[in-house]
Amino acid sequence: MEPITTPRRALVTGATGLLGSSITRALAGLGTEVTALVRDERRARRLLPSSGRLRLLEGDVTRPESYASALPGCDAVFHTAAYFREYDQPGGPDLALLERTNVWAVTALLEAAARESVPVVVHTSSHGILAPVPGALADESSPVTTVPRNGYIASKIRAEERIREFRRHGAVRVPVIRPAWMWGPGDAGPTSSGRLFLAIARGALRVVPRGGNHTVDARDVARACIAAAAVGKGTYNVAGAWLPLPGVCADIAGVTGTTAPRAISPRVALAAAGALEFGARLRRRPPVASRDGVRAMLEGSHRRVSSARAEQELGVVFRPIRQTLEDEAAWYHEQEML
Ligand SMILES: NC(=O)c1ccc[n+]([C@@H]2O[C@H](COP(=O)([O-])OP(=O)(O)OC[C@H]3O[C@@H](n4cnc5c(N)ncnc54)[C@H](OP(=O)(O)O)[C@@H]3O)[C@@H](O)[C@H]2O)c1
Repeated sequence: MEPITTPRRALVTGATGLLGSSITRALAGLGTEVTALVRDERRARRLLPSSGRLRLLEGDVTRPESYASALPGCDAVFHTAAYFREYDQPGGPDLALLERTNVWAVTALLEAAARESVPVVVHTSSHGILAPVPGALADESSPVTTVPRNGYIASKIRAEERIREFRRHGAVRVPVIRPAWMWGPGDAGPTSSGRLFLAIARGALRVVPRGGNHTVDARDVARACIAAAAVGKGTYNVAGAWLPLPGVCADIAGVTGTTAPRAISPRVALAAAGALEFGARLRRRPPVASRDGVRAMLEGSHRRVSSARAEQELGVVFRPIRQTLEDEAAWYHEQEML
């Protein structure tokens, strides 16, 4: 595999997120001048490395005027910002903001990039949009689900539709990366994987449903995004290995020196989460676990995905989960979140 060429100047959206911070760190390490679009500059200063190659720009992807100044002279945009963690917030998602952030803002960014002759925008989608293919691996030509699990997945499908329309008459190259469940250092949010990690590390999770998902280190996805900016055309699944959830939880317990949660049947887990939700409603408190949370943990149980295209064309290599979890534990300690 040829060494990949890296952009001279790049804009990263969602740069304080798990994937965005991984791309930002990797690009700065490769010598790229990076403009990191962030919602809170003070928080970004705490989370991102200080580097002469890194400029923080406070803004919002739903307000294109807030990042327009970063586009002229930019060789690549890495678009990772999304209404994602917010989807599971207590009280339910803000569907208008979901649509504006995950669909409208994607089109607005592509149009703004085209106006400024930015050659490539790497978009982040999700492997969760793929319909399971019984007895086989889903690849990039496999159908997306016609019954999305939730509004977030539906928004990712709509964004990919907009990108396909844009590609027909746009001058900008728009490779699409579909990561699986991401883990690793930099998960400040934290996202669902970070929440699970911290719950086990703090000894707050006693049981976990039997099931599993494709898990992938965000740094390996970042590497795929950077390679896609150089040579990517079309869509790439970047899914890593399918792993049983109780095994991942046991590894988290192993690297953090805690007790692994006991594996229980998905049906029992859903019933227990329902009871916790009911109790929390009576006490007017957010539930410790929810049926949606359990369903989210289980949604990848029946989907198997091939990342062969990303491995061959982008040179993606997946590191072992144990290494990811050790580095994640070290990062949470550094950030005093553990
Ligand atoms: N994590 C996964 O397992 C997974 C799997 C498949 C696909 N994805 C996709 O991968 C991408 C990155 O996700 P992630 O895991 O890195 O999640 P994350 O840690 O929650 O990062 C999302 C980032 O988007 C930023 N953001 C949200 N709304 C914004 C807005 N209106 N303007 C500017 N920035 C905004 C957030 O800013 P703050 O830091 O200020 O909150 C955050 O930095 C997303 O497109 C997500 O849909 C994630």
